[in-house]
Amino acid sequence: MKFFIDTANLDQIKEAQSLGILDGVTTNPSLMAKEGVTGQKNIIDHYLKICDIVDGDVSAEVISVDYKGIVKEGEELASLHKQIVIKVPMIEEGVKAIRYFNDKGLKTNCTLVFSSGQALLAAKAGATYVSPFIGRLDDISTDGLELIGDIRDIYDNYAYETEILAASIRHTMHIIDCAKIGADVVTSPLSAIKGLLNHPLTDLGLEKFLNDHKKGN
Ligand code: E4P
Repeated sequence: MKFFIDTANLDQIKEAQSLGILDGVTTNPSLMAKEGVTGQKNIIDHYLKICDIVDGDVSAEVISVDYKGIVKEGEELASLHKQIVIKVPMIEEGVKAIRYFNDKGLKTNCTLVFSSGQALLAAKAGATYVSPFIGRLDDISTDGLELIGDIRDIYDNYAYETEILAASIRHTMHIIDCAKIGADVVTSPLSAIKGLLNHPLTDLGLEKFLNDHKKGN
């Protein structure tokens, strides 16, 4: 399973990259705004800084919601760097634009997906990735992981190549459960990724090893 980090924070991306387990980055307009990245030039510079830190795909989301605008923005984003993946919302105009990008050989990430039907459309349009938002479904008492499982079944039925990029990850167990289900990618906050490291028996065991070693010397 690929690990993407879900942030525009350069320090967190660097820390995740230093772990040696990072496969890519996803951003969205809210994450970019959270880092205070505003204005076309600053946004472009920020995407290029992210591409300099990681070797994998970097999702950059369009703001336009009309076909022509999405296509124009998406081609501009894709032209910035070979690692840039055009992130497009699951709307009618977005589906048309994903088909256009696919036919031009440009990678896409279909985002704001909350149903199997939407995921089916994303695959039919040729999206490289589909981003079902687990956490936001959980937040409204809907089982986000069940959606991941349903999409996995549907994609496997027809050997769709679109990769399931589980998004809106809230905690470490989301990562583990997505791995059990067979999501291709999780995009996660650094804290949830680092949560995979933690086990009290590891800490206790290492402490005993080191103490016994010290006693022996
Ligand atoms: C993917 O990149 C999504 O934009 C992101 O995971 C959304 O997460 P949130 O639901 O915590 O905003």
